[in-house]
Amino acid sequence: MTRVRTAVLISGRGTNLKSLIDACADPKFPAEISLVISNVANAGGLDYAREAGIAFKVISHKDFASREEFDAAIDAALQQSNIQIVCLAGFMRILSDWFARRWDGRVLNIHPSLLPAFKGLNVHQQALDAGVQVAGCTVHFVVPELDSGPIIVQASVPVLPGDKAETLAARILEKEHKLYPAALAMVAEGKVKLENGRVVFA
Ligand code: GRF
Repeated sequence: MTRVRTAVLISGRGTNLKSLIDACADPKFPAEISLVISNVANAGGLDYAREAGIAFKVISHKDFASREEFDAAIDAALQQSNIQIVCLAGFMRILSDWFARRWDGRVLNIHPSLLPAFKGLNVHQQALDAGVQVAGCTVHFVVPELDSGPIIVQASVPVLPGDKAETLAARILEKEHKLYPAALAMVAEGKVKLENGRVVFA
């Protein structure tokens, strides 16, 4: 079986990266993590790549004059490693329209809310402030607009009395770690794809 060459882009602690690495440890999993890129040199998640012996690169946005030049460097690294699918996992840079179009249908993101509710930052506090009783996470294809791409899968959790942003985040994160590998498997196997801006299930 040829496994789909996947890159994971991170900026921080990388627990979603770890969940993807663990899923790919099963030789029957349809994707493999071939490259990890961080825009932050000391991102904790890089240790997971090191431990697993996965190639990684630090490409700092601070080394580039513009978003487009940074994105071109990311694109070059992906091409060099023959990457087929990109998973954003806590990657804290907004990708340019150019990049989103170039990789259209091949970039996934995980977001800790039931999109289209609560985009952007401080997502768990946004959910608590809105008083929702159900929260969750979403894996979606990346399009130029932030947190707006077509939805691949979602998982929900209850919001419990007394929840703080941290307790809700922890409950959602547990679901994220199952949802992202499941979504990657679906895309790698061709069970779901983006066609004319819509998600199509095979
Ligand atoms: C996750 O909650 C993810 O949904 C969001 O950023 C967080 C990253 O966490 N996009 P980690 O770095 O994967 O631990």
